[in-house]
Amino acid sequence: MTISVCEDKEQLAQKAANLFLQIAQRAIEERGRFVAALSGGSTPERTYTLLAQPERATQLDWNKVYLFFGDERFVPHDDPRSNYHMVKQAMLDALPLPAGHVLAVRTDLPTPEAAAEHYEQMLLAFFALPDRQTLPRFDLVFLGLGDDCHTASLFPSAAALTERKRLVVATPPGTLPPPVDRITFTFPLINAARQVVFLVAGSNKAKTLYRALVERPPIWLCPAVGIRPADGELLWLVDKEAASLLPPEQLNPQR
Ligand code: 6PG
Repeated sequence: MTISVCEDKEQLAQKAANLFLQIAQRAIEERGRFVAALSGGSTPERTYTLLAQPERATQLDWNKVYLFFGDERFVPHDDPRSNYHMVKQAMLDALPLPAGHVLAVRTDLPTPEAAAEHYEQMLLAFFALPDRQTLPRFDLVFLGLGDDCHTASLFPSAAALTERKRLVVATPPGTLPPPVDRITFTFPLINAARQVVFLVAGSNKAKTLYRALVERPPIWLCPAVGIRPADGELLWLVDKEAASLLPPEQLNPQR
């Protein structure tokens, strides 16, 4: 695990966007395509906007890029609370991604459970896996850290935390807004990724980051602690404000 501390939110977004490009270019060189899972919330929005700007967007062959969502709110795609909606506005509308390369959660299905089941089937079909016995490996999973220590939509005390077989599940709203049902990747799927990157910024995240990285409470209290890629890398990209309570020896500011 590496913790990288950026000066501020803007530097964090720039580093995250550059990292996305580097990982994508390497994945395309090595495996012919790049498959990423994006996070919602407010922190990554600037990263997505930077990726869509010509100076970065032109560095990548978007024909070889596939984007999933690590979690989604069960609201229509044009609802401002939708993660898909945020990503679309921030970057998708400006990028030359071919049809079928943005694999959004179908929130028009009758229930969150049906949406989760459908998304899991979509994943298995995309990775050409006959069943869940072999875990799909994302090249990159972006995650956020909620004030209650949730990540993706893996909330404290939720049944989703103990899921070992399914790759995607529906989960009731947590205690933080917005109070809508969610669809989320589970720990086994996230932890199978080649690279997981948390994006955490702002002084309001300092206590939670300290809990997740130093106190390390049990997973049911602090789900972010459950993110431990089995055979991949874990990077915490944080800003100085979020990192303000971390002991200096734990930081790797130069990376
Ligand atoms: C969501 C998320 C969630 C988010 C954290 C942090 O859909 O809400 O994907 O896990 O990443 O709550 O959100 P902020 O970046 O807004 O603090």
